Amino acid sequence: MDPSTSGLSQKLAKAGQLHLMQFWTELSPEEQGDLVQELQVMDFQEINGFFKSAMETSGSSKQEKMDARMEPVPREVLGSVTRDRESLKDWELEGLHCISQSKVAVLLLAGGQGTRLGVSYPKGMYDVGLPSHKTLFQIQAERILKLQQLAEQKHKVKCCIPWYIMTSGRTIQSTKDFFSKHNFFGLGKDNVVFFQQGMLPAMDYQGKIILENKGKLAMAPDGNGGLYRALGHQGIMGDMERRGVESIHVYCVDNILVKVADPAFVGFCVQKGADCGAKVVEKTNPTEAVGVVCKVDGRYQVVEYSEITLATAEKRSSDGRLMFNAGNVANHFFSFSFLKDVVEKYEPQLQHHVAQKKIPYVDAQGQLVKPDKPNGIKMEKFVFDIFQFAKKFVVYEVLREDEFSPLKNADSQEGKDTPTTARHTLMSLHHRWVLNAGGHFIDENGRRVPAIPRDGAAGSVSDAGTRNLKDGTDLPIKCEISPLVSYGGEGLEELVKGRDFHPTLMIDENGVHELVKNGV
Ligand code: UD1
Repeated sequence: MDPSTSGLSQKLAKAGQLHLMQFWTELSPEEQGDLVQELQVMDFQEINGFFKSAMETSGSSKQEKMDARMEPVPREVLGSVTRDRESLKDWELEGLHCISQSKVAVLLLAGGQGTRLGVSYPKGMYDVGLPSHKTLFQIQAERILKLQQLAEQKHKVKCCIPWYIMTSGRTIQSTKDFFSKHNFFGLGKDNVVFFQQGMLPAMDYQGKIILENKGKLAMAPDGNGGLYRALGHQGIMGDMERRGVESIHVYCVDNILVKVADPAFVGFCVQKGADCGAKVVEKTNPTEAVGVVCKVDGRYQVVEYSEITLATAEKRSSDGRLMFNAGNVANHFFSFSFLKDVVEKYEPQLQHHVAQKKIPYVDAQGQLVKPDKPNGIKMEKFVFDIFQFAKKFVVYEVLREDEFSPLKNADSQEGKDTPTTARHTLMSLHHRWVLNAGGHFIDENGRRVPAIPRDGAAGSVSDAGTRNLKDGTDLPIKCEISPLVSYGGEGLEELVKGRDFHPTLMIDENGVHELVKNGV
């Protein structure tokens, strides 16, 4: 098809994007076809509008103003696993009850590109090197299975936790194939629903769309806040409605400790009558790369680490803690009706955030250039930008060592949040579960590793163990417990009480195994 006769050229010229056709005559008929197809479905007026308003609201002047307008989360909206221990069991029971009624769904944000980790496949398919070599997807699937089972046992009814998985155009096929290949990890195929978020072009600072090669635009997913548009466009809200879903737990793919559909978090939010909630951990290091939940101009929001000045990040309260310490672990609760309102009414009001990036491009001579400094922007909406619309917003604080260990960077980067730290934090948590349930470990010299005092009631789904061990930075005892055996440390006493184990200890649906060789 010739773009000049199809009206496409006029459309591009009107939008100031005619340069996208500059290599037209050099393209093969097939490449021409692909390019036309890509361009025809794009709404350039809308994209130009996004660019204009995103650029207007970004910039340092906004940052300074934001700092002055921030207030910490007030205690009255906060629930805490350490400070509200007496309520924890109640919240958990409430959550399990909702799950048993099939009213709780989980929604996984898995449309990211995993650029920092540096893998070409979806992050959920990553194996961090646990003794079982389970991937993040498998761990999450098995937690869902176990939770269904716990709710069914408690309430003597069959139930289902539907799992909605948002992918991007780049990851949808490989994600679907992976689930099929693994038979949906034992979950019902119909209860795992994939959907695809939108993509937006990268643009230079003048608002021109960047070509990544002569016949292809530089496209990227539209941020995890692309969720809301995708939910509407792909009929997901209708699916939830048909299933009678009332509460949704939204989370990110990269946290190996994520308590998928956490009954205590869901129960807390439901009991408080919240339409929206966020799980947080205490941020202790001012420069840690997590967003903080706070109020801005009286409305709840997450202020990203890149949007806050160091002076504000370092501010401390009289108790010595960071003033803005509600670290966002990207686990959110939405009531169905709130989510529906967001999708139907509020989504268009969300602004794109601007990320300055080094974007490879073809220059006017058709040469591929890999810039060494940022040359353009990507536009993204953020999942938490809808907190501002909540009528009843709550915050739920959990312990980092029990619930938060994201996989962001490759081991070669030797930093935080790597496959090694993810593996260590999970094994260290499972070690504590065994100790809490009355088991012991024997070290390489044949001595018992000193036991750590019990903390909390064993057998509780929310009891994740003692807190005395550090996070995954120390070498942990090699110990892995399948989610199919225990969701949160419960049910282990009959397997481990009074027993001594030589690491590597593996507990799975086939029993308790000590692997002779520590090959992890
Ligand atoms: C995110 C949070 C940050 C939090 C941190 C904790 C957002 C915007 N920021 O930051 O506040 O402290 O996690 O680990 O949520 N994703 C998509 N589509 C996209 C982009 C990302 O689905 O277009 C998904 C990713 O697959 C991932 C999640 O969103 O599961 C988080 O994305 P990532 O870019 O890793 O966010 P962070 O910057 O680490």
